[in-house]
Amino acid sequence: MHRCPGLQGHPPRGSAPASGAFASTFEDERDRPLDWFKELITQSRIFGAVLAPGLVGVVGLRSNADAKLRHKAMIWGMYVRHEARQHGIGERLIDAAVAYASSHVEQLQLAVVTENEAARRLYAKAAFIEYGHQINALKHGERYYDDILMVKFLGA
Ligand SMILES: CC(C)(COP(=O)(O)OP(=O)(O)OC[C@H]1O[C@@H](n2cnc3c(N)ncnc32)[C@H](O)[C@@H]1OP(=O)(O)O)[C@@H](O)C(=O)NCCC(=O)NCCS
Repeated sequence: MHRCPGLQGHPPRGSAPASGAFASTFEDERDRPLDWFKELITQSRIFGAVLAPGLVGVVGLRSNADAKLRHKAMIWGMYVRHEARQHGIGERLIDAAVAYASSHVEQLQLAVVTENEAARRLYAKAAFIEYGHQINALKHGERYYDDILMVKFLGA
Protein backbone atom coordinates (compact mmCIF):
# COMPACT_ATOMS: atom_id res chain seq x y z
CA MET A 1 0.00 0.00 0.00
CA HIS A 2 2.84 2.38 0.85
CA ARG A 3 4.81 1.54 -2.27
CA CYS A 4 2.00 2.39 -4.72
CA PRO A 5 1.99 6.15 -4.09
CA GLY A 6 5.78 6.02 -4.25
CA LEU A 7 5.73 4.38 -7.65
CA GLN A 8 3.01 6.71 -8.93
CA GLY A 9 4.84 9.78 -7.67
CA HIS A 10 8.16 8.75 -9.17
CA PRO A 11 7.31 6.94 -12.38
CA PRO A 12 10.69 6.48 -14.01
CA ARG A 13 13.80 6.87 -11.94
CA GLY A 14 15.22 10.32 -12.59
CA SER A 15 12.25 11.65 -14.50
CA ALA A 16 12.76 14.98 -12.83
CA PRO A 17 15.95 16.33 -11.35
CA ALA A 18 14.82 16.20 -7.74
CA SER A 19 12.83 12.98 -7.97
CA GLY A 20 13.90 9.66 -9.36
CA ALA A 21 13.22 6.51 -7.52
CA PHE A 22 12.48 3.04 -8.70
CA ALA A 23 13.37 0.66 -11.48
CA SER A 24 9.84 -0.68 -11.71
CA THR A 25 6.75 1.33 -12.57
CA PHE A 26 3.34 1.48 -10.90
CA GLU A 27 1.88 -0.34 -13.94
CA ASP A 28 4.51 -3.12 -13.64
CA GLU A 29 3.71 -3.74 -10.00
CA ARG A 30 -0.06 -3.28 -10.22
CA ASP A 31 -0.22 -6.26 -12.60
CA ARG A 32 2.11 -8.58 -10.65
CA PRO A 33 0.64 -11.62 -8.93
CA LEU A 34 0.60 -11.72 -5.14
CA ASP A 35 3.18 -14.52 -5.21
CA TRP A 36 5.73 -12.12 -6.70
CA PHE A 37 5.39 -9.83 -3.65
CA LYS A 38 5.42 -12.83 -1.34
CA GLU A 39 8.77 -13.91 -2.75
CA LEU A 40 10.24 -10.40 -2.55
CA ILE A 41 9.13 -9.98 1.05
CA THR A 42 10.33 -13.45 2.00
CA GLN A 43 13.81 -12.70 0.66
CA SER A 44 13.94 -9.27 2.26
CA ARG A 45 14.11 -7.57 5.60
CA ILE A 46 11.98 -4.41 5.43
CA PHE A 47 12.40 -1.39 7.72
CA GLY A 48 9.67 1.19 8.21
CA ALA A 49 9.52 4.66 9.71
CA VAL A 50 6.30 5.47 11.55
CA LEU A 51 5.12 8.96 12.43
CA ALA A 52 1.59 9.13 13.83
CA PRO A 53 -0.75 8.28 12.23
CA GLY A 54 1.13 5.95 9.91
CA LEU A 55 4.03 4.70 7.88
CA VAL A 56 6.07 7.50 6.29
CA GLY A 57 9.11 5.66 5.00
CA VAL A 58 10.43 2.25 4.05
CA VAL A 59 13.59 0.58 2.87
CA GLY A 60 14.14 -3.04 1.87
CA LEU A 61 17.21 -5.21 2.25
CA ARG A 62 17.33 -8.19 -0.06
CA SER A 63 19.73 -11.03 0.44
CA ASN A 64 20.62 -13.91 -1.79
CA ALA A 65 20.41 -17.57 -0.80
CA ASP A 66 23.08 -18.72 -3.29
CA ALA A 67 26.28 -19.78 -1.52
CA LYS A 68 28.61 -17.53 -3.51
CA LEU A 69 26.36 -14.47 -3.15
CA ARG A 70 25.35 -14.84 0.47
CA HIS A 71 27.89 -12.30 1.70
CA LYS A 72 26.07 -9.44 -0.08
CA ALA A 73 22.69 -7.77 0.28
CA MET A 74 20.95 -5.19 -1.89
CA ILE A 75 19.08 -2.08 -0.78
CA TRP A 76 15.76 -1.62 -2.60
CA GLY A 77 12.60 0.47 -2.37
CA MET A 78 14.01 3.38 -0.38
CA TYR A 79 11.15 5.82 -0.03
CA VAL A 80 10.10 8.61 2.31
CA ARG A 81 6.75 10.31 1.81
CA HIS A 82 6.98 13.89 0.51
CA GLU A 83 5.60 15.52 3.62
CA ALA A 84 8.13 13.74 5.84
CA ARG A 85 11.27 14.46 3.81
CA GLN A 86 14.39 16.29 4.96
CA HIS A 87 13.80 15.49 8.61
CA GLY A 88 16.38 12.73 8.87
CA ILE A 89 14.02 9.81 8.27
CA GLY A 90 15.84 8.49 5.19
CA GLU A 91 19.09 8.58 7.12
CA ARG A 92 17.58 6.67 10.04
CA LEU A 93 16.15 4.04 7.71
CA ILE A 94 19.54 3.53 6.08
CA ASP A 95 21.18 3.38 9.51
CA ALA A 96 18.70 0.68 10.58
CA ALA A 97 19.35 -1.34 7.41
CA VAL A 98 23.13 -1.00 7.85
CA ALA A 99 22.96 -1.99 11.51
CA TYR A 100 21.00 -5.13 10.69
CA ALA A 101 23.15 -5.96 7.65
CA SER A 102 26.37 -5.56 9.65
CA SER A 103 25.73 -8.76 11.55
CA HIS A 104 24.52 -10.72 8.50
CA VAL A 105 26.51 -9.76 5.38
CA GLU A 106 29.85 -8.26 4.38
CA GLN A 107 28.64 -5.68 1.93
CA LEU A 108 25.56 -3.70 1.03
CA GLN A 109 24.99 -2.69 -2.57
CA LEU A 110 22.55 -0.36 -4.28
CA ALA A 111 21.87 1.39 -7.58
CA VAL A 112 20.75 4.99 -7.86
CA VAL A 113 19.96 6.94 -10.99
CA THR A 114 22.57 9.60 -11.74
CA GLU A 115 20.12 12.55 -11.56
CA ASN A 116 18.81 11.57 -8.12
CA GLU A 117 20.91 14.04 -6.17
CA ALA A 118 18.96 13.68 -2.88
CA ALA A 119 19.40 9.90 -2.74
CA ARG A 120 23.04 10.03 -3.85
CA ARG A 121 23.82 12.48 -1.05
CA LEU A 122 21.91 10.39 1.46
CA TYR A 123 23.93 7.28 0.55
CA ALA A 124 27.23 9.18 0.46
CA LYS A 125 26.46 10.55 3.92
CA ALA A 126 25.95 6.96 5.10
CA ALA A 127 29.45 6.19 3.73
CA PHE A 128 28.43 4.26 0.62
CA ILE A 129 31.07 4.63 -2.08
CA GLU A 130 30.63 4.65 -5.84
CA TYR A 131 32.12 1.65 -7.63
CA GLY A 132 30.48 1.75 -11.04
CA HIS A 133 28.44 3.59 -13.59
CA GLN A 134 25.93 1.61 -15.59
CA ILE A 135 25.13 3.32 -18.86
CA ASN A 136 21.49 3.13 -20.01
CA ALA A 137 20.59 1.01 -16.99
CA LEU A 138 16.90 1.88 -17.39
CA LYS A 139 14.77 2.70 -20.37
CA HIS A 140 11.41 4.35 -19.90
CA GLY A 141 9.65 5.16 -23.16
CA GLU A 142 12.41 6.47 -25.38
CA ARG A 143 14.52 7.86 -22.56
CA TYR A 144 17.49 6.14 -20.98
CA TYR A 145 18.80 6.57 -17.43
CA ASP A 146 22.24 5.77 -16.09
CA ASP A 147 22.74 4.20 -12.69
CA ILE A 148 25.50 4.85 -10.18
CA LEU A 149 26.40 1.62 -8.38
CA MET A 150 27.30 2.05 -4.72
CA VAL A 151 28.62 -0.23 -2.02
CA LYS A 152 29.28 -0.13 1.71
CA PHE A 153 31.72 -2.69 3.09
CA LEU A 154 30.62 -3.76 6.53
CA GLY A 155 33.42 -5.91 7.77
CA ALA A 156 31.08 -8.64 9.07
C1 LIG B 1 15.97 10.14 -1.13
C2 LIG B 1 15.02 10.18 0.06
C3 LIG B 1 14.78 8.74 0.54
C4 LIG B 1 15.67 10.99 1.20
O1 LIG B 1 14.86 10.86 2.37
P1 LIG B 1 14.84 12.00 3.50
O2 LIG B 1 14.13 11.47 4.68
O3 LIG B 1 14.33 13.27 2.92
O4 LIG B 1 16.41 12.18 3.81
P2 LIG B 1 17.06 12.77 5.13
O5 LIG B 1 16.22 13.91 5.64
O6 LIG B 1 17.34 11.67 6.08
O7 LIG B 1 18.41 13.38 4.58
C5 LIG B 1 19.68 12.72 4.78
C6 LIG B 1 20.68 13.31 3.81
O8 LIG B 1 20.28 13.05 2.46
C7 LIG B 1 20.61 14.17 1.63
N1 LIG B 1 19.37 14.76 1.11
C8 LIG B 1 18.10 14.42 1.44
N2 LIG B 1 17.23 15.17 0.72
C9 LIG B 1 17.98 15.96 -0.07
C10 LIG B 1 17.66 16.94 -1.06
N3 LIG B 1 16.38 17.23 -1.39
N4 LIG B 1 18.67 17.55 -1.73
C11 LIG B 1 19.95 17.27 -1.42
N5 LIG B 1 20.34 16.36 -0.49
C12 LIG B 1 19.35 15.72 0.17
C13 LIG B 1 21.36 15.16 2.52
O9 LIG B 1 22.73 14.85 2.46
C14 LIG B 1 20.80 14.82 3.89
O10 LIG B 1 21.67 15.14 4.93
P3 LIG B 1 21.70 16.67 5.52
O11 LIG B 1 20.29 17.02 5.83
O12 LIG B 1 22.58 16.58 6.72
O13 LIG B 1 22.25 17.52 4.43
C15 LIG B 1 13.67 10.87 -0.32
O14 LIG B 1 13.95 12.10 -0.93
C16 LIG B 1 12.81 10.04 -1.26
O15 LIG B 1 12.02 9.19 -0.82
N6 LIG B 1 12.91 10.29 -2.59
C17 LIG B 1 12.09 9.58 -3.59
C18 LIG B 1 12.43 8.11 -3.68
C19 LIG B 1 13.89 7.90 -4.01
O16 LIG B 1 14.51 8.65 -4.74
N7 LIG B 1 14.44 6.80 -3.43
C20 LIG B 1 15.82 6.43 -3.63
C21 LIG B 1 15.91 5.41 -4.72
S1 LIG B 1 17.61 4.90 -5.03
